[in-house]
Amino acid sequence: MRLIFVPLFLISSLFADDFITRMEYAKLLYSNPRGIGCDKCHGTNAKGGVIASFKQKGDTKKLIAPSISNTTKENFFKALNSPKTVMPKYSLTNEEMESLYEYVTKQR
Ligand code: HEC
Repeated sequence: MRLIFVPLFLISSLFADDFITRMEYAKLLYSNPRGIGCDKCHGTNAKGGVIASFKQKGDTKKLIAPSISNTTKENFFKALNSPKTVMPKYSLTNEEMESLYEYVTKQR
């Protein structure tokens, strides 16, 4: 039985790379990172945006998600591993964070 299963597994893993491209995978991850999508706050093109505006002591305040398309890899990983304010904590693997980084820094 094993002799049959091993080659099948090898063949399917050879084709797996062609099923979706790295960028398509990264894009899916960006909008569905096992939690609220990055796009919901940082926007589809990772350029950031206003999450909410509210009044505080008569002033209108804005809660902003920064642009993340032009950040260093070090800063990117640091932000994902220890978010500061309303950004959720994700449980992403290094590979997933690498893919996300590649994706956001390719946005124009
Ligand atoms: C609920 C809104 C929200 C979601 C969802 C979210 N973020 Fe954020 N993100 C923020 C806010 C607000 C900040 C500003 C600093 C902070 O709160 O940590 C931030 C900061 C960052 C920074 C640091 C930017 C800088 O230069 O300082 C990176 C990188 C980042 N987010 C990436 C991501 C990625 C990747 C995802 C998806 C896995 C994601 N964020 C999901 C709101 C969000």
